[in-house]
Amino acid sequence: MLNIGKKAKSVAAIAAIAAVALTACGRSESTSAGASGGAKGFDKSSLIGVALPQKTSENWVLAEKLFNDGLSSAGYKADVQFANGGVSEQQNQISSMVTKGAKVIIVGAIDGSQLGTQLKQAKDAGATVIAYDRLVKNTDAVDYYVAYDNFKVGVLQGQALLDGMKAKKASGPYNIELFAGSPDDANAKVFFDGAMSVLQPKIDDGTLKVVSGQKSFEQAVTQGWKAENAQKRMDTLLAGNYNSTPLDGVLSPNDTLARAILTSVKAAGKPTPIVTGQDSEVESVKSIMAGQQYSTINKDTRKLVEHAITMVNDLQAGKTPETNDTKSYNNGVKVVPAFLLPPVIVTKANAKEAYANDPTLSQYTK
Ligand code: BGC
Repeated sequence: MLNIGKKAKSVAAIAAIAAVALTACGRSESTSAGASGGAKGFDKSSLIGVALPQKTSENWVLAEKLFNDGLSSAGYKADVQFANGGVSEQQNQISSMVTKGAKVIIVGAIDGSQLGTQLKQAKDAGATVIAYDRLVKNTDAVDYYVAYDNFKVGVLQGQALLDGMKAKKASGPYNIELFAGSPDDANAKVFFDGAMSVLQPKIDDGTLKVVSGQKSFEQAVTQGWKAENAQKRMDTLLAGNYNSTPLDGVLSPNDTLARAILTSVKAAGKPTPIVTGQDSEVESVKSIMAGQQYSTINKDTRKLVEHAITMVNDLQAGKTPETNDTKSYNNGVKVVPAFLLPPVIVTKANAKEAYANDPTLSQYTK
């Protein structure tokens, strides 16, 4: 947990008191801007900006459509933008949303620490800023955070890796390798820390062996969440460490990277290890059903977008949006009040049940 200054502490204290009041009496009506201030009680036809990152996984592509449809059908003008060109494109998009008078700006940051100036502009213009899926760091210009519980995602991945290996071979030691996401995405370290909270004790007691010795987050990262970077690193790890040594498992932070890791293993002619994932991407669900990728995480994008839009509706009606965590997400300057949804681990064993209500994914689990 990062240190917070005196001012941030008192803001956090106010937020905590507000949260207790909220828990006690449900959503509270409010017409003024409180500790987490911004636009409240605005016109139903207002502009709402949604700044999405790059299309690094299917969930972002789904989110674009869901935000456009959901915001439009609620009556708002939606301005939903991807920033495939990178950080400066995303900065320009947010500035332009502010100039156009957006009342709420929802941000899925490419680099959570590079948006301070633009989000301050948004706050100065009276907009409310909601960090979506990824936390925005080192700025007080963020009011709320809505996401699946990222640390829990990592815990579930670490546990799945252990369970999967154990089901194949009753006792260790197990040889593993570790992959993390992109270091500019605030989520990547949280996923890794969650997984290591399960794996580190098993490394320490000798149950797990990271054969390459590459155990730190910095060594495990995958720049830009790019499949080609993970595949290249896996090729190198296999060539340097697994000529005659069996590889039992790989911690992969998401599905795109899991499939890249499996491609590398296959190309090297090695047996399929236990590989974790996240996002419930169609190709990974098919791979799980075919006995290739071991696990994924279900973070239903429909629910996350729906909750972000509920926050917008609350703000529009002059209410304080509901949060359920006012402790965990310290962005370096403040603790951002969060609404966290629970992630679900999915393997071949529970896929049918996990995707029963998903019209797309349920097709692949029959
Ligand atoms: C999201 C993951 C996703 C990754 C790459 C993360 O911030 O939480 O669901 O796999 O970005 O797009």
